[in-house]
Amino acid sequence: MDSRREGRYERVYEQLRELIEGASPSLISAMATICAVLHAKMPHHFWTGFYLVGGDDVLHVGPYQGAVACQTLEGGGVCLHAARTGRPVVVPDVAAFPGHIACDARSKSEVAIPVMSGDEVVAVFDVDADEPGQFDDEEVRLLTRILGLLDPYL
Ligand code: SME
Repeated sequence: MDSRREGRYERVYEQLRELIEGASPSLISAMATICAVLHAKMPHHFWTGFYLVGGDDVLHVGPYQGAVACQTLEGGGVCLHAARTGRPVVVPDVAAFPGHIACDARSKSEVAIPVMSGDEVVAVFDVDADEPGQFDDEEVRLLTRILGLLDPYL
């Protein structure tokens, strides 16, 4: 990751900490604020949002920024894979991921990170980029740090 992007993530974390800590009234409010700031400040975030566990092996769209998204995810795809395994998924080329669900054909790479409440996956945070190869383990680490701001609400 280049240092400009890393610096942006650092500033976004501090901004979100001030906005959320002791101020966001609910989990959904905090999620919406994370999406709004990341989407505005990170140039490679083409779509930024949460899917909420909506039932057994089903995800429902939650707070997000970007083009209108699939309302329900079921049967497979990147986000469900993250929900099923409880592990982050980095997808450098969405066309090469079996079962990838293309809500928007312009998405070329993607990262999905489960949001846990104890041992249970309650949501998946998903970012799409319109260029391939935009995400790696370092990106997962920086996004996971930001998602830690949700912990008091989980
Ligand atoms: N590509 C995702 C679907 C959600 S969108 O990218 C907004 C998937 O395969 O689960």
